[in-house]
Amino acid sequence: MRNRMIAGNWKMNKSYSEGVVLAQGLARELEGGTGDVDVVVCPPTVDLKGVATVIEQESAPFSLGAQNAYFEESGAYTGETAPSMLTDIGATYCIIGHSERRGYFGETDEDINKKAKALMAHGIVPISCCGESLEVREAGKHVEFVVDQIRKDTEGLVIDDPSKYVVAYEPIWAIGTGKTATADDAQEVCGAIRKTLAEVFGQEVADGIRVLYGGSAKPENVAGFLEKEDVDGALVGGASLKADSFAAMVKAAM
Ligand code: 13P
Repeated sequence: MRNRMIAGNWKMNKSYSEGVVLAQGLARELEGGTGDVDVVVCPPTVDLKGVATVIEQESAPFSLGAQNAYFEESGAYTGETAPSMLTDIGATYCIIGHSERRGYFGETDEDINKKAKALMAHGIVPISCCGESLEVREAGKHVEFVVDQIRKDTEGLVIDDPSKYVVAYEPIWAIGTGKTATADDAQEVCGAIRKTLAEVFGQEVADGIRVLYGGSAKPENVAGFLEKEDVDGALVGGASLKADSFAAMVKAAM
């Protein structure tokens, strides 16, 4: 049985003080609890400590995630953040392999695989992103493309507890465009992802790994995705920047 997950990726939005206000608003919206739904908030790095403090002070029912981390332990890597630094401030999740990091910052599947290993060694749950471009989709090669990403991103990973590894399928053409994939499009690829995870880790582990959909997910459409067998939640960009719309998505998943 997989608990559903709603995760918010604030991307490069919200200053430290704005982030504190948003986290406080979300804590208020969700003060009745989130049932069996795991909720994760991923602010920019400089906001992490502020959001961690809000979570602690308000006993807020959501977990803290980073948007990126480096795979080395420490050292001369200017501008980077080590997994141990995230653990130290209370982050328990970290997005890796987002298409914006792959596209703008040249991250490769090999980097993403190393990041997953480094994070897991520190007890941080990776939310590992995959997804195809419009060009790949129009060529009808989307399933093949995503399966290849999954194989490379998971190579050599050891997963004892399947709740400690999360995959997010985010078709690039649906991110921030208002163009959503249909629930059937999401199921086609999320189903193929689970089948690949079963080939890599065995069926039992694959059945416990959450596979999220991301790309213009919002309160009005999230329920349709969640009805699908292999879609276990959403990774939310724009709609996570307002406490009421993000909370509405959590409530739709409960
Ligand atoms: P939007 O929800 O803004 O389309 O962003 C999706 C996303 O990239 C989440 O990581």
